[in-house]
Amino acid sequence: MKIAVFASGTGSNFTALVQAIKQGQLAATIELLVCDQPDALVLKRAEAERIPIVCLKPSDFATKTAYEEQVKEALILHEIEFIVLAGYMRLIGPTLLEPYKNRIINIHPSLLPAFPGRTSIADAFDAGVSESGITIHYIDEGIDTGPIIYQKAVPILKTDTFATFTKRMHAVEHTIYPMVLEKIFQEGASNEKKSLN
Ligand code: GRF
Repeated sequence: MKIAVFASGTGSNFTALVQAIKQGQLAATIELLVCDQPDALVLKRAEAERIPIVCLKPSDFATKTAYEEQVKEALILHEIEFIVLAGYMRLIGPTLLEPYKNRIINIHPSLLPAFPGRTSIADAFDAGVSESGITIHYIDEGIDTGPIIYQKAVPILKTDTFATFTKRMHAVEHTIYPMVLEKIFQEGASNEKKSLN
């Protein structure tokens, strides 16, 4: 499966996907990294792997549509089949949502619909709940609202600090994202086969 990863920050999930592909756990190739932050660490990770990068600043474009049109051109050029969001801090607009319907997947660090938004790990920790978790879901036009594909609970232990809880959350993300994507891609491939028969 030819995928583009969209990311804005550190890129630890990006690296987890790269590793899973190398280890034969995820039958995909990352054809492209799309990044909206010129100083993001994820860019260095992609460079080290010699993965092509499209890094555009949305503020350089007159409209969100114009920005996404340019991203779309790159996706078409690289024959991208699935878009995998990994810490991409931007809402996806109709320019990309329509052509990639049911082909844009996100990972979010909470058990949605609880704790949507950008600070969900801290929000769950501060709320004093006994567990939070990870959600993998399709993207729609809302903030963390698309159809849920998979969820995994992560307990918040009495002995946890914010740092230890965060570390455990990320470790779970890095294990389940490649695993769930592999399942989705396999199903996609077998559905395509069925429709050819
Ligand atoms: C992850 O916690 C992911 O769930 C959220 O953004 C974070 C990205 O982390 N959407 P990284 O850049 O992959 O390290």
